[in-house]
Amino acid sequence: MTIRVAIAEPRNTSYDILIGRGLLADLPALVNAPCPAARYAVITDSHVATLYGKKLVARCHDATLHAELFEFPAGEANKTRETWASLSDRLLQRQFGRDCGVIALGGGVVGDVAGFVAATYLRGVPYVQVPTTLLAMIDSSIGGKTGVDVPAGKNLLGAFHQPRLVLADLGLLGTLPAPQLAAGVAEAVKHAAIADADYFAFLEREHDAVTTGQPDALEQLVRRSVEIKAGVVAADERETGRRAILNFGHTVAHAVEATVKFAVLHGAAVAIGMAYEARLAEVLGIAAAGTADRIRKLLERYGLPVELPKSAPADALLATMQLDKKARAGTVRFALPEAVGRMHADGSSWTMTAPERVVREVLAGR
Ligand SMILES: NC(=O)c1ccc[n+]([C@@H]2O[C@H](COP(=O)([O-])OP(=O)(O)OC[C@H]3O[C@@H](n4cnc5c(N)ncnc54)[C@H](O)[C@@H]3O)[C@@H](O)[C@H]2O)c1
Ligand SMILES: [Zn+2]
Repeated sequence: MTIRVAIAEPRNTSYDILIGRGLLADLPALVNAPCPAARYAVITDSHVATLYGKKLVARCHDATLHAELFEFPAGEANKTRETWASLSDRLLQRQFGRDCGVIALGGGVVGDVAGFVAATYLRGVPYVQVPTTLLAMIDSSIGGKTGVDVPAGKNLLGAFHQPRLVLADLGLLGTLPAPQLAAGVAEAVKHAAIADADYFAFLEREHDAVTTGQPDALEQLVRRSVEIKAGVVAADERETGRRAILNFGHTVAHAVEATVKFAVLHGAAVAIGMAYEARLAEVLGIAAAGTADRIRKLLERYGLPVELPKSAPADALLATMQLDKKARAGTVRFALPEAVGRMHADGSSWTMTAPERVVREVLAGR
């Protein structure tokens, strides 16, 4: 199945997302046309290198495609400038030229770092996203946001760089640990909550099939989420307008992640963030009564956390949000739902501020 991300401006940055099983085996044939290169740098992390990376490079060689593996230690803690610098230096050392391409094989951490390497290497080379986690398949591999975390906050250094192709091989999800699968589902719940009440009902109904990894259910989930994310980013490539609805849950989530120093998975932090931000929307009179409860219940069924960790109390989170706000030269803004499947627009803006007192009360659970 192919879903096209049709970017309006510049038109030539549009690309296809392929969803299927066994696609990794066909990668050598699939990358050639959208991302032609004399040599490919396959960038991956230490876990995925062992599971799939080495095999992929061998397969490329069999297909007479010149490919080399570049790996870095797995984990959000390594989504840093240092990893970006080391990978770039290693490519230079191996004399990769402007005619090279990058293949980002891994979860969101790999996609973000490898994408940033591709965006900056010799002022930019083309790249392909090969997401291997559910979260990366339905979220981080689409939209062209690349970058790294710095001490001042998450994703503060980066670039927009659209991939030439996204290759989502559902077969790779078979090795994904359950908490990582659940973390991906959190972003699927987000897609449903912001754009599609029927999809939300599907996630409620098909809970057992999704958590046991039934192929049909997973395929439908990935397809619908990809359609939603691709539709939103295609209309607003640089995040000036409606794309902001994808940030539902993320204002609180980013503060949680920074406060607990990434001890919580991104998807889990998003689940917590949505639970509190939906409640905030109700308290502000924006969301219909019961919206927050329904979102919270669904997240809980998928084994996702919906309460703030003890190590991230309201005061600490508010302080982190203020710092993040300063770093981004803006205000603390929230993308809030009106109901399951529909987001709130404040005039022409899809995000809004909230009185600090109210945010504090909601975070404190009062
Ligand atoms: N660029 C964007 O638009 C965007 C959007 C959402 C999230 N993100 C970023 O994505 C990151 C989170 O991504 P993630 O959750 O994929 O984390 P991740 O990349 O750290 O992957 C999670 C873990 O799963 C392992 N893994 C990956 N694929 C596997 C497989 N098939 N089988 C077994 N293990 C596997 C990884 O090695 C890692 O240990 C965060 O840094 C977040 O900021 C970016
Ligand atoms: Zn996210």
